Amino acid sequence: MGKFVHKHSSYSSKKLVFFISIAGLVGAAFIANFLRASSSSGYLFVSSNWALEKTSVTNQASRKESVEDKKGLVPERILSATFADLAAPDLQWEEMPPAPVPRLDGAAVQIKNLLYVFAGYGSLDYVHSHVDVFNFTDNKWGGMFDMPKEMAHSHLGVATDGRYIYVVSGQYGPQCRGPTARSFVLDTETKKWNSMPPLPAPRYAPATQIWRGRLHVMGGSKENRHTPGVEHWSIAVKDGKALEKQWRNETPIPRGGPHRACVIVNDRLFVIGGQEGDFMAKPGSPIFKCSRRHEVVYSDVYMLDDEMKWKVVPPMPKPNSHIECAWVLVNNSIIITGGTTEKHPVTKRMILVGEVFQFHLDSLTWSVIGKLPYRVKTTLAGFWDGYLYFTSGQRDRGPDNPQPKKVIGDMWRTKLSL
Ligand SMILES: *[C@@H]1O[C@H](CO)[C@@H](O)[C@H](O)[C@H]1NC(C)=O
Ligand SMILES: *[C@@H]1O[C@H](CO)[C@@H](O)[C@H](O)[C@H]1NC(C)=O
Repeated sequence: MGKFVHKHSSYSSKKLVFFISIAGLVGAAFIANFLRASSSSGYLFVSSNWALEKTSVTNQASRKESVEDKKGLVPERILSATFADLAAPDLQWEEMPPAPVPRLDGAAVQIKNLLYVFAGYGSLDYVHSHVDVFNFTDNKWGGMFDMPKEMAHSHLGVATDGRYIYVVSGQYGPQCRGPTARSFVLDTETKKWNSMPPLPAPRYAPATQIWRGRLHVMGGSKENRHTPGVEHWSIAVKDGKALEKQWRNETPIPRGGPHRACVIVNDRLFVIGGQEGDFMAKPGSPIFKCSRRHEVVYSDVYMLDDEMKWKVVPPMPKPNSHIECAWVLVNNSIIITGGTTEKHPVTKRMILVGEVFQFHLDSLTWSVIGKLPYRVKTTLAGFWDGYLYFTSGQRDRGPDNPQPKKVIGDMWRTKLSL
């Protein structure tokens, strides 16, 4: 069992103090909701036995409704409980060394025993421009290196062929700044970056994968960060090079939006979950200050196969978004860790997801296979030697409060037995 002492550099403590003072100045509830820099928690080895939220929420809502009932104004109704935690078995989680920096809306790609972790917000006002690497063989972080200056800092589309990692478009800069169409490819053996032809239009967090020799990019949010894109483009790639000068139009995806898992398996392409709408820059704000907008989280799953027509397959057990790098493939199934679900129907708060889901590729059915140590979105997941790992993201306020709070770099693993 690993017992690791967290070390905080003076750099990250300074950042924490800085961010808290900004948060104090601004004081807006949404900031707490959206982002807060953090130090790591003191967990070492836990069982994921946080309470189910459902009961208290339902009681609250029905209390309110019964008051209204007495006045004879509102007929009784049942709250849709898509926001509630689902019953799930406990898993034994072991705390591993935390990533060198906390990270939200970053990206990750696993190649063999290495997890390459890219970019992300450290706080709402600070974005990373480097790659950290976790080695599953000795469970250590190391080998940090820079990203190109022109590369986006969050909401990237990423995919790998096993040596090269393609990084497509994304948001350039902190807060809710604009996107870039610039795209790059990393040779993980030489750590050298090269340019790729830019996407026809920039996107935030588009679904991205390599399939049949082509890099596919679809969905995401459009230039204003909020409008869902349904366009789908591809370009032929080989050994870290684009074989064509331009991206080609493909069949648009039936539903657009960012933060979806995109997985190739058994020669089929799956796009899972996601949302329509996102935070946008406040009009006229010189710092492109994020402001909350209407968003709809969904559970839809779409599939492309030989026919190159989008097919609808069974949806996730609950609406789920911010899962673009939260998945791994194990034993002919897709495992997904955490995410965000529909906002609370009464409080309208953003609600995080703490379950581990499994999609069985033979039967195309879903099950809930466990609980994470806490609810958390935009996790970066890996699988090695029988262990499911996740790191980073933004976690909840505690077992009884599923709203987002701290941005974390913590890493955990659990032995999977499917
Ligand atoms: C990963 O760790 C193993 C075991 O310590 C080591 O042999 C290997 O060289 C490491 N890989 C990299 C890329 O650092
Ligand atoms: C995957 O399947 C193999 C063969 O049935 C089994 O030995 C292994 O434990 C399974 N892996 C997990 C993580 O459950």
